[in-house]
Amino acid sequence: RKILSTTAMKKMKNEKEPIAMVTAYDYPSAKLAEEAQADIIFVGDSLGMVVLGYDSTIPVTMDDMIHHTKAVARGAKNSFVLTDMPFLSYHGSIDHTLRNAARIMQEGSPKAVKMEGGIEISESMSSCVKAGIPVMGHIGLTPQAVNQLGGYRVQGRQPEQAKKLIEDAKALEQAGAFAVVLEMVPEELASYITETISIPTIGIGAGRGCDGQVLVFHDLLQYASPIQPKFVKAYKNVGLEIKNGIEQFVQETKNQTFPSESHVFHMDSDVLKDILD
Ligand code: KIV
Ligand code: NA
Repeated sequence: RKILSTTAMKKMKNEKEPIAMVTAYDYPSAKLAEEAQADIIFVGDSLGMVVLGYDSTIPVTMDDMIHHTKAVARGAKNSFVLTDMPFLSYHGSIDHTLRNAARIMQEGSPKAVKMEGGIEISESMSSCVKAGIPVMGHIGLTPQAVNQLGGYRVQGRQPEQAKKLIEDAKALEQAGAFAVVLEMVPEELASYITETISIPTIGIGAGRGCDGQVLVFHDLLQYASPIQPKFVKAYKNVGLEIKNGIEQFVQETKNQTFPSESHVFHMDSDVLKDILD
């Protein structure tokens, strides 16, 4: 399979072919996402919540992102792998931003990085773009700013917020973003932004008008994900399957129906007899 390029994604937008993006955090999730033909396999900093058990994405470090990106890259060798830049790794000086982006690209080897924020981060973003790193934007609900936003809630319902989001989307396009995630934005506003900018929009809780959709692996599969927002569709309940499987193993160990004859190894009975004589 040919690895998608950022220009191919723009072509998909123009031809109205939806872009399907899914998160993955390790070798098996990446392998399965690739086999399932996801267009973009995304190592989100949501890994802090769904894999590491933190209650926000704020504790996630550069080392965490690189560690997980390496595993995903090994599992999805023929996919466009995208990695989140973690909390405050693309703020402060341009030098700091470039150093962190360079580490992710060189050590994790994804095809691109993603950054949260609008106008405020447009300079950081363009410095990476100028250095040859494709960058995806992310506006609306930006979980790294949860403490400022006062929770995980819909963004852009009020006129001031809506205006700011439209301006942010345009600023990111100007800064050279190849696409932008719209998270928890009313469908009407997300559709307007999608029609207004030339780069693809990838929605999560942003309605039906976006150029693509993204969901978190553990959410869409019900893989012990801690919360279930309204915008998530649960396609499978693998958490239940996994729990049932482990329960059976525990029971069969207790009642000694496992292992059975088919799972055991044998040896020539003479050998044991000889050494014991
Ligand atoms: O980290 C993540 O999973 C994300 C998506 C929800 C867009 O940023
Ligand atoms: Na994220």
